[in-house]
Amino acid sequence: MKNILVTGGLGFIGSHTVVELHHRGYNPIIVDNLSNSQEEVLNRLKKITGTQFTFLNIDLVDFDKTRQIFSDQIIDGVIHFAAYKAVGESVEKPLDYYENNLGSLINLLKLSQEFRVSNFIFSSSCTVYGQPDRLPVDESFPKLPAESPYGKTKQVCEEIIEDYCKSNPDFKAISLRYFNPTGAHESALIGELPLGIPNNLVPFITQTAAGIREKLNVFGGDYNTPDGTCIRDYIHVVDLANAHIAALEHAEKMDTNYDMFNVGTGKGNSVLEVIQSFEKVTGISLNYEIVDRRPGDIEKIYADTKKVNSILGWKAERDLDNMMKTAWEWQKSLSIKE
Ligand code: UFG
Repeated sequence: MKNILVTGGLGFIGSHTVVELHHRGYNPIIVDNLSNSQEEVLNRLKKITGTQFTFLNIDLVDFDKTRQIFSDQIIDGVIHFAAYKAVGESVEKPLDYYENNLGSLINLLKLSQEFRVSNFIFSSSCTVYGQPDRLPVDESFPKLPAESPYGKTKQVCEEIIEDYCKSNPDFKAISLRYFNPTGAHESALIGELPLGIPNNLVPFITQTAAGIREKLNVFGGDYNTPDGTCIRDYIHVVDLANAHIAALEHAEKMDTNYDMFNVGTGKGNSVLEVIQSFEKVTGISLNYEIVDRRPGDIEKIYADTKKVNSILGWKAERDLDNMMKTAWEWQKSLSIKE
């Protein structure tokens, strides 16, 4: 059984990936410093899979402690999720973002070199494209200047990995550029756990429906889109998790040693379409209002998925209604717990 180090494995995407790795016969080893996750997720993973996974509470910026992981375990591959990800916070605290997101990556690459771990999957983002001048956006599009230090860390991390791959032909790495991950596991035992007031649309919708927030502000109704609201490519977190396994399998056999893939559905939906889908599947009428634009938002983006479909053999299977349904089931399970 192959051991896969999953950094940030108790987080939103990481925890769903742990489940799918387990289903596919891998042994995930979870590293997480609980900076934006809860240890309770480990119990939830056990409920879903019947397995008690190895969990190491380690900050990957600490080289010596991270080195200990590699010397204690046999690691066959790394999926690196752990990173700070709040766009607004990154503007306030750029040094924290550079230190954490770049420092942890560099430590993991150095240790992969030392311990000859050759498969590495990196969590990147469609944010590396900025606002592309035509759509859908494919992997050959240029990276435009990042809007935030967070976005810049994703661009720079991709470049660090690419440079390192050039220096070490035995090392195989893939960057997955996520579009907008949402939804939750169908068991409703794991899902997104935003700290404080959510920045992202779907947690804000579900918290509003649950009565935790009074009203959803829809940021901007005057964009150049059919209904005036921004368009994104929402991708179910379980589909996204499965893309990591497809990437791991591909990394082992690929001819080049670095590649990157969009992970989205290829379909754009507006904010109002997301709300309509939520209202349809839940029967709840959402309290929302169209307000001013949010600074830094791009108007529309969705993925060209030809490359990921053909080379990784991966395709999104779950639609927007499924994302809304599972996100709502997850939200309801939280309310019951409280
Ligand atoms: N939105 C609202 N109201 C809210 C929250 C969001 O109308 O309360 C809108 C946004 O304006 C945007 C859409 O919903 O049009 C999606 O917003 P999210 O914040 O959920 O997602 P973003 O596309 O802005 O952010 C995502 C990732 C970031 C990444 C960014 C790059 O979550 O990590 O893409 O564009 F940096």
